[in-house]
Amino acid sequence: MIATCLTRCLSAFFTGTKTSSKFRARNLVLGAFLCTIRDVSRFVCADERLDDNSGGYGMNRKLVTYFSASGVTKRAAESFASIIGADLYEIKPAVPYTKEDLNWMDNKSRSSVEMKAPGLSSRPALADVDANISAYDVIFIGFPIWWYTAPTIVHTFLESYDFSGKIVVPFATSGGSPMGNISSTLQKVVPSASVRPGRMMNDRVSDQTLRDWANSFV
Ligand SMILES: Cc1cc2nc3c(=O)[nH]c(=O)nc-3n(C[C@H](O)[C@H](O)[C@H](O)COP(=O)(O)O)c2cc1C
Repeated sequence: MIATCLTRCLSAFFTGTKTSSKFRARNLVLGAFLCTIRDVSRFVCADERLDDNSGGYGMNRKLVTYFSASGVTKRAAESFASIIGADLYEIKPAVPYTKEDLNWMDNKSRSSVEMKAPGLSSRPALADVDANISAYDVIFIGFPIWWYTAPTIVHTFLESYDFSGKIVVPFATSGGSPMGNISSTLQKVVPSASVRPGRMMNDRVSDQTLRDWANSFV
């Protein structure tokens, strides 16, 4: 940057059509001014490109995906995506969960049957498989905690795409359970990705805290 600027200034100095020292000095000042404007604007633009989500520059393209059965995680995901300027994708079950399906006190309810299958082996079907995962570097994945872990439809989602080389970051809402070892459980489902420690989104935190957290995965 300095070398370019110096070259421009010297060129401005020597190529003045009039040879008076006053005129050369004016050219010198003008050259330096234009160089500074150009280089500062390049610097600022580069920073903006690193922050934006269009994907052309840097490794910072973010997608917020989420599954939500009763709307709590949906609201958290929408707010999070808006705060960090990320795209949003809803993970929808082929068959939506009814109130009865979500009754954890009933051993025979759909969610109980799915979550109690040995080794979390159930794979509820997705309504669609059209997330453009390949366009992103960091994929946040939100869900409600069910039986202390992620609903198995999250496993279906992770197994339905190529997550090779992607950074996957869980976030969740719950009635009080913490994230626990959910990241390591999900890492086994997508060994080709790097699943990072997640965070709970039950409590409101500042927008800046969420932005800093999201940017820590670049
Ligand atoms: C089947 C089922 C199991 C649940 N298991 C837990 C649990 O183990 N720990 C917990 O704190 N909350 C549990 N919850 C509560 C949900 O995690 C919580 O209400 C969540 O915010 C709902 O998110 P949603 O509206 O996006 O579906 C469970 C809810 C359901 C329906």
